[in-house]
Amino acid sequence: MESEQILLTMLTVLVCNIVCRSEGTSLHKNKISIEGFINENELTLICHVKDLFLQVDILHESKCEAKCYPPYPRSTCFSYNKGDITQNLKTNCTKLVVRLDEKKYKSFWSCQHGSNGEKSDQILVQKEDNTSSRDPSLEKPFLIALIVVATISIGLCVVISFLITCIRRRNPDTAGVKQDILLKQTIT
Ligand SMILES: *[C@@H]1O[C@H](CO)[C@@H](O)[C@H](O)[C@H]1NC(C)=O
Ligand SMILES: *[C@@H]1O[C@H](CO)[C@@H](O)[C@H](O)[C@H]1NC(C)=O
Repeated sequence: MESEQILLTMLTVLVCNIVCRSEGTSLHKNKISIEGFINENELTLICHVKDLFLQVDILHESKCEAKCYPPYPRSTCFSYNKGDITQNLKTNCTKLVVRLDEKKYKSFWSCQHGSNGEKSDQILVQKEDNTSSRDPSLEKPFLIALIVVATISIGLCVVISFLITCIRRRNPDTAGVKQDILLKQTIT
């Protein structure tokens, strides 16, 4: 009985921990969060702030890449590196679109609300590796080559075994007799 109770307590604590933790992260993500994706040669980052009233900085590897001033009376944004930054006060999303260069091909991004305020989680944005899509195109010729080699070797085996049986059939004794007959025929 005692061990059952201990087990039940442990289970309760575990479940509570999981629930509390997930609630904590979702709460944190609700305040300020960032997401990013790559489309062709452009990188798009969207920073969402639940309660947007201060400046928003979008950070690339902890350095400010673009920012919007407090949105009063209206949002004013600029980008340090020729990005395209816009802010939507209906959704409280700040969107930055930058050209994808080598430095941004695989990079860490975050955003911040207020000059020393809340920070979002740092996310890693990277171009999807399309080696997996390259593999089948490499695999196909390889498979074809394998089939060709297998066919050729099977063919060779057949030919060789045929030759061997031919040679075996040509028994030296019978061949000698035949030659003798031939010889006799030419003589007579
Ligand atoms: C955006 O932020 C403002 C200012 O804090 C808030 O009043 C408003 O409800 C927010 N809008 C959304 C859609 O979260
Ligand atoms: C990999 O992705 C790049 C950019 O999207 C594309 O130009 C290239 O053709 C792709 N390679 C393969 C093998 O799919």
